[in-house]
Amino acid sequence: MKAYTLKQIGGVENLVQKEIPTPQIKNNQVLVKVKAIGINPVDAFVRSSEQGLSIFVNPGKGEEVILGWDIAGIIETVGSEVNGLKTGDEVFGLINFKGHGKAYAEYVAVDAAQVALKPGNISFEAAGAATLAALTAWQALVTHAQIKKDDKVLIHGASGGVGHYAVQIAKHVGAFVIGVGSSENKDFILSLGADQFIDYKKEKFEEIVRDADVILDSLDKENLKRSFSALKTGGRLVSLITFFDDELKALIAHKKAQAYRMTVESNGNDMKSLADLLQQGALRSHVTKVYPFDQLPDAHIQVETHKTRGKIVVTV
Ligand SMILES: NC(=O)c1ccc[n+]([C@@H]2O[C@H](COP(=O)([O-])OP(=O)(O)OC[C@H]3O[C@@H](n4cnc5c(N)ncnc54)[C@H](OP(=O)(O)O)[C@@H]3O)[C@@H](O)[C@H]2O)c1
Repeated sequence: MKAYTLKQIGGVENLVQKEIPTPQIKNNQVLVKVKAIGINPVDAFVRSSEQGLSIFVNPGKGEEVILGWDIAGIIETVGSEVNGLKTGDEVFGLINFKGHGKAYAEYVAVDAAQVALKPGNISFEAAGAATLAALTAWQALVTHAQIKKDDKVLIHGASGGVGHYAVQIAKHVGAFVIGVGSSENKDFILSLGADQFIDYKKEKFEEIVRDADVILDSLDKENLKRSFSALKTGGRLVSLITFFDDELKALIAHKKAQAYRMTVESNGNDMKSLADLLQQGALRSHVTKVYPFDQLPDAHIQVETHKTRGKIVVTV
């Protein structure tokens, strides 16, 4: 099968396409013929950083590295211990995160517990997009922050991969949603269902919002400190990037906040929840650009701009 292996840490030229053996599945796995691959900022981080590779993939010594975790595809073979999935089923999921997902390939061996059936009414591209980023939004808002109707929810990076799903999930729950982004994404963020838009380049969000029940922060420590000013006492905050040092822990205590620094995890049950929302039309993937497999390195260049609206996807 064809796959991209990582020659060495560095630029996109190190993503090398070659023929490798099709993976063997374990008894609890299915072999998926990949149709679409979602690309995330973490993919580029791991490609270009020794530290990133060791944190997020941690390959065995001398093991050939195949990046990627987000897939949608068709089941080709089913392991003997797998129940509820069969050859020909269309599935999507986040594969083995954190760990060696090996998704940049024609076939991927996948733990059956990490995928859900792809809704029939959405494309493989839309499903491949709604994996790591959508799961992050779900686990941040539903699992950690436990958002509920009428919560005031502020979402940073609302036009991005995670943010555009987070706006829709919060809206679906019945929250009042404030999306923060740059002016060129205002109409997009409002079209996702946000009730209010804040342009972070022109306005200080913490001067406009002082009583958020929930904040999803995907930025640096300076932004996170300002987020605590926008959070009401006793509010919930989820940080995707910044870990809590002593200064931030003091802010958490001062605000009596419930604060979580989360890392997304592969989870088939959460994928089923996303599949339900996608099936209902309550959640939609905005796929800005689809790249053919031969142009996968260009998708890395795009994601590294950190200015992608919604998601980008590679088709196989
Ligand atoms: N901890 C975890 O488990 C986890 C999971 C997923 C993602 N992440 C991280 O969360 C971040 C967001 O992920 P993503 O997939 O949504 O990324 P993305 O698709 O690249 O989107 C990022 C968005 O952030 C906005 N942005 C960029 N620079 C900004 C700045 N200086 N100030 C304010 N907003 C800025 C951009 O919106 P505008 O163009 O409107 O400015 C962009 O749409 C990434 O750093 C990613 O690595 C962490």
